[in-house]
Amino acid sequence: MPRLHDYQQVLVTGGAGFLGSHLCDRLLASGVTVVCLDNFFTGNRRNVEQLFDHPRFELIRHDVTFPIHLEVDEIYNLACAASPIHYQFDPVQTTKSSVHGAINMLGLAKRTRAKILQASTSEVYGDPEVHPQREDYWGRVNPIGPRSCYDEGKRCAETLFFDYHRQHKLQIKVARIFNTYGPRMHPNDGRVVSNFIRQALHNEPITVYGDGSQTRSFCYVSDMIDALESLMQSSDDFIGPVNLGNPSEFTIAELARKVIDLTGSRSYLVYHPLPQDDPLQRRPDITLARSTLDWQPKVPLDEGLRHTIAYFDELLTTRARGASSL
Ligand SMILES: NC(=O)c1ccc[n+]([C@@H]2O[C@H](COP(=O)([O-])OP(=O)(O)OC[C@H]3O[C@@H](n4cnc5c(N)ncnc54)[C@H](O)[C@@H]3O)[C@@H](O)[C@H]2O)c1
Repeated sequence: MPRLHDYQQVLVTGGAGFLGSHLCDRLLASGVTVVCLDNFFTGNRRNVEQLFDHPRFELIRHDVTFPIHLEVDEIYNLACAASPIHYQFDPVQTTKSSVHGAINMLGLAKRTRAKILQASTSEVYGDPEVHPQREDYWGRVNPIGPRSCYDEGKRCAETLFFDYHRQHKLQIKVARIFNTYGPRMHPNDGRVVSNFIRQALHNEPITVYGDGSQTRSFCYVSDMIDALESLMQSSDDFIGPVNLGNPSEFTIAELARKVIDLTGSRSYLVYHPLPQDDPLQRRPDITLARSTLDWQPKVPLDEGLRHTIAYFDELLTTRARGASSL
């Protein structure tokens, strides 16, 4: 894949988060200069500490809801809490991070003529009536529910990206990311993979919402970073939105059993009512990504879970020893 040069600056907002930190690793390895911007709401310096001594890495504490002046050639806009526990903690700030954040980063892209990629989400489809979801499906989103700050914020950000493209001729790329997991996920983000692994490692009961028959698709982080990089490098006339995720579908109960097996845990399943607006099925149609980006996920669920379990095991052991502030 053709890459940029070390004098080219790539900004990653939300760069100290789960996906952002892996993206920073990857971009540095490809030879560019990386500016990682984060307000550390859900991200952590620890996720990028391996990069502190790198001569082409810079870390800035900043909130994207405020404008910033930088000279950049590419922007990956990832800044936004991604898990319900975190984005519902301060819903107004969540909408601001998506909407004001998009306006500020698009403004920066307009001034510098940088190419800009938006980390959008499968949540723009809401609780869909069609399965799997293709990019031309407009979604079924509740505009006033507890998840709306995230879903509608991301939808509005997509609107802004497309309007800046039409009105100001900005080079944009919009990725609709589906469930992604892997090392550096926040251990207390309440998401299903981290919850199950944490509970299994502690031999606690595994909490399944509903009857466990709802399905999810899980994409391993390295596959997602491949996709984001290819999208950024794709031809100028391809702007998305494009679904990125792993189309293999698993029920939540299947995932729970896999985690129990791979951790050798004594945990058992306990069932709780489904939260409001929780979709029953979520699976990407990645036909477009396959044909335009020549991309598809490679890492099987068992392998990805093994890496993630190893990461959580070490993190939780360190925490138990009191050597970490996590
Ligand atoms: N991981 C997934 O499964 C998934 C799925 C769909 C979409 N996404 C999107 O990908 C992006 C990254 O998600 P993630 O899973 O790495 O989550 P994350 O919470 O680990 O990363 C988000 C990062 O953004 C930072 N942030 C939040 N608000 C900010 C603000 N106002 N200013 C500056 N920084 C801010 C956080 O501190 C964090 O480092 C998000 O935009 C998310 O919506 C992720």
